[in-house]
Amino acid sequence: MQTVVELLSIMDARSELKTLLAEIERHNELYHGQDAPEISDDEFNALKRRALAIVERFPLLKPAKSALDQVGAAPRKEFEQITLAVPMLSLGNLFTDEDLEGFLTKIVNFIGKDAAENLMFTAEPKMDGLALNLRYEFGKLTSASTRGNGEVGEDVLPNVRTIPEVPQVVVGAPDILEVRGEIYMERAAFLAINAQREIEGKPLYKTPRNLAAGSLRQLDATETAKRPLRFCTYGWGEVSTMPADTQMGMLDYFKKLGFFVNPLIRLVSADHLLDAYSALQDARPGLAYDIDGIVYKIDNLALRQRLGFTSSGPRWATAHKFPAETATTTLVGIDIQVGRTGALSPVARLHPVIVGGVEVSNATLHNEDYIAGIGQKGPIREGRDLRIGDTVTIYRAGDVIPKVLDVDLSKRPADAAPYKMPENCPVCGSLAVRDIDPTTGKLGSVRRCTGSLVCEAQGVERLKHAVSRDCLDIDGLGDKQIDYFYENTTLPIKSLGDIFTLRTRDADLGNVLRTWAGYKDTSVNKLFDAIDKARKQQLHKVIFALGIRQVGESTAKAIAKLYRTWDDALENFVGIARDDQAAIKRLTELDGFGAAVCDGIKEMFSNTAVVEAVTNFVSELQIEAVKATEAGPLTGKTIVFTGSFSSMTRDEAEAKAESLGAKISGSVSAKTSILVAGEKAGGKLEKAKALKVVQIMDENEWLALVG
Ligand code: IVH
Repeated sequence: MQTVVELLSIMDARSELKTLLAEIERHNELYHGQDAPEISDDEFNALKRRALAIVERFPLLKPAKSALDQVGAAPRKEFEQITLAVPMLSLGNLFTDEDLEGFLTKIVNFIGKDAAENLMFTAEPKMDGLALNLRYEFGKLTSASTRGNGEVGEDVLPNVRTIPEVPQVVVGAPDILEVRGEIYMERAAFLAINAQREIEGKPLYKTPRNLAAGSLRQLDATETAKRPLRFCTYGWGEVSTMPADTQMGMLDYFKKLGFFVNPLIRLVSADHLLDAYSALQDARPGLAYDIDGIVYKIDNLALRQRLGFTSSGPRWATAHKFPAETATTTLVGIDIQVGRTGALSPVARLHPVIVGGVEVSNATLHNEDYIAGIGQKGPIREGRDLRIGDTVTIYRAGDVIPKVLDVDLSKRPADAAPYKMPENCPVCGSLAVRDIDPTTGKLGSVRRCTGSLVCEAQGVERLKHAVSRDCLDIDGLGDKQIDYFYENTTLPIKSLGDIFTLRTRDADLGNVLRTWAGYKDTSVNKLFDAIDKARKQQLHKVIFALGIRQVGESTAKAIAKLYRTWDDALENFVGIARDDQAAIKRLTELDGFGAAVCDGIKEMFSNTAVVEAVTNFVSELQIEAVKATEAGPLTGKTIVFTGSFSSMTRDEAEAKAESLGAKISGSVSAKTSILVAGEKAGGKLEKAKALKVVQIMDENEWLALVG
């Protein structure tokens, strides 16, 4: 269960944001860079929303440049980069008829009623592939680039030369002509290629789009040549002399030059855009390729020039999305998968069915409430639950993993019983519990395995966390090595304690480790020394290393300061797990600690197998007791930093302030004690002046204060 953003401390927010941005970047790269998404668009958007919520609350934490600003993915390193002569922009999206009204109104307001009279649009199928820019110089194809980040794309010319639909030369064209369109693959070709890959035991492509993208970006062009890619033209980039003054005119011209232009493109007035939309939607199931909507573009190029662009795309064009494609099938079973965080996820096993041209045999069911017909905001599917044997409607909204939309109760078998979520983890057998949402006090929707350190599904991630820099910090034992030792049968590391018995276990086996690849005598010794060095630990690092839910780095520090020794900490953790009110009171009296932290502790220390693993681990360590600290000079003060500083980074300044007992805040309020204003301080400085109560100082005064 996530802590609500409002309750995050700046330290926890910072570390969560760091993880989130890394995740977002990774998924961005998987989607755009490797054409192999691991999560659905919805899940991806949820990560982004969470990160945005955090930077909204703590604007100071927003990095100057991050995955949050990125369109598409950075170009891949294997390909040469091409700076596009004219950027390749994206389109805005409409979902409803009202959205369309809004789009048209903005155009009329912008160019005025007169100019907007008899406005004509092209209505074009929105091909679900990837955009390509072809550059012809003096009639010869000289470059081919993907969209990349919109300004710099990847040079895929050798691959594009293998696509029959892309002319190598064009006769009678302007000296410089850039033609743009979509690379895509027909559904039949997608299915055939996947069928072959299945026989060869290779991973399957999720969608025709992923396959087209993957094919275009093969490092070896002979591989691309084996894939039946198509290219459909709908636009242009740099053109030295324009051959026409309308979109339709341009498309006709491209056809004459030998390009393929979609024959379903229509020229319609504003009143008929929705007719074009319905007609295309009707035609959609019969098309040989995937489309995900329709694109409306103003036909008249002079008007386009006047309308120009906003940051989200052209004012003169937009995409109108189609609703997701659906299909009906039966729910034959429900499997439980345990994620790396211990969340139990029910997965629907479906009788195979084609949805939008792709065979589907499972769908996500999210959690037990979802199965029961309840969502966060009340009933879903009007409260209808899902039972094995049910007839269900499923849909794919461009996502990799389909979802269950509805259930037909009239077809429910008489003996179908309500689904009961298992109360034990199918992987390790530990109790699986639902937590209480600290803000609502209600049961959370996710059931989680309490096996943490002893659950095979979670163990490896828990270990990686424990050995990381901010925890035990063991040199030579990173993610890669943990993965390796976790799977190893000779010298396995399955639990935290196993790390510290590695040396003796290796000796017992006659020093085998040094015979392994990459582990010569010296590096084995280095590893053992690093492990031994890590036996000496500060209490907060050990607490953080345990991976107790709700206990981030700063919480771990506060807990360590409270208990001061491991023995006291353990006694209290076990007490909290036993509902000992004195132990609970002692912890919750700490500033900012709610029931959530107690829940996290309770969850971990109620599981005897976990307590045993923790005790084994700790018996290998020498944990320093925390010295009693006097109050710092800034204890109880709330400090806001604004503007830029010359002698320190903001992170440094904040860490210093925190080490002296201060609390950091991102915004000025009546509670602010000190505002440290650097260069170009703006609104916060104004506000602080207005609030008078606040002490304002510049960088030098701050340095003088903190030494
Ligand atoms: S026009 C500024 N026309 O959709 C104009 N794009 O969401 C941008 N697409 O990157 C493109 N069919 O990959 C245009 N008929 C069509 C399209 C189309 C598919 C894709 C294209 C673009 C994305 C924008």
